[in-house]
Amino acid sequence: MNMAKQIGRNEPCWCGSGRKYKVCHASFDEKIHSFEEAGHIVPPHKIIKTPAQVEKIKESCVINIAILDYLETVIRPGMNTAEIDKIVYEMTTERGAVPAPLHYEGFPYSVCTSVNEQVCHGFPSKDVVLQEGDIVNVDCSTILNGFYSDSSRMFCIGDVSPEKKKLVEVTKECVEKGLEQVKPWGFLGDMGQAVHDHAEANGYTVVREIGGHGVGLEFHEEPWVGYNSRKGEEMLMVPGMIFTIEPMVNMGKQAICTDSHNHWEVYTKDHMPSAQWEIMVLVTEEGHEVLCW
Ligand code: MF3
Ligand code: CO
Repeated sequence: MNMAKQIGRNEPCWCGSGRKYKVCHASFDEKIHSFEEAGHIVPPHKIIKTPAQVEKIKESCVINIAILDYLETVIRPGMNTAEIDKIVYEMTTERGAVPAPLHYEGFPYSVCTSVNEQVCHGFPSKDVVLQEGDIVNVDCSTILNGFYSDSSRMFCIGDVSPEKKKLVEVTKECVEKGLEQVKPWGFLGDMGQAVHDHAEANGYTVVREIGGHGVGLEFHEEPWVGYNSRKGEEMLMVPGMIFTIEPMVNMGKQAICTDSHNHWEVYTKDHMPSAQWEIMVLVTEEGHEVLCW
């Protein structure tokens, strides 16, 4: 907020609106500053999106949603996860976009496909053939004209055991409970605690090490979004912030391990199933808007 303090009241606002600071974001910054003075973590300007940026990000989200919607209609027992990777690559590039995971920090595929005890960052492979009873997370991320979208869904392959089905459903509910807490001038910890409480109430655990993130202008922006936080803690939420809610919920213990060869694929240590849903949410003046799911 020190930066904001230096803008003259008659100078152009930092948001790029072209309006004078005093009639644009001056009181907004004052309000944020008062939370900072009270000891809270507050968002930097660079993660607060302008309406024009939000529109561009939404265009990216349209592609991400279309891909997941399509996969929902074709995913079935006998399909291998390399086929999913191919569909994601083709649908993305046909629309003039780029799959965000491809070559991201060396990630070699266009999408993450994580089956059963795989927690996240699963490598698509022709050797991973989806079987009746599997649960799989497909995590899709798109870059369109430099703007990012990111969301993931669970798919139940054929008939799935009641235990696994419940894990998938409760994990989705966790995201919904978290989402209810997203509103301006609340805290990310309000969301985190709601997610965690619901998972725990169902006898599940939530992965601690990997969380959600700010997104839109980059793939992974501030803040890091965890679920072991408490109400009233973590970053203040303000209109214009966009972040993901993407808890990884384990049927067994919360401990995870990473593949020692590829350093990407994450598994539950106890080999019990894990589920994840990811949405992208915009904090608005009134509450929130889900941009991608
Ligand atoms: N899509 C993942 C997320 O939700 C990011 C995976 S990084 C990748 O943040 F390189 F594996 F794509
Ligand atoms: Co994400």
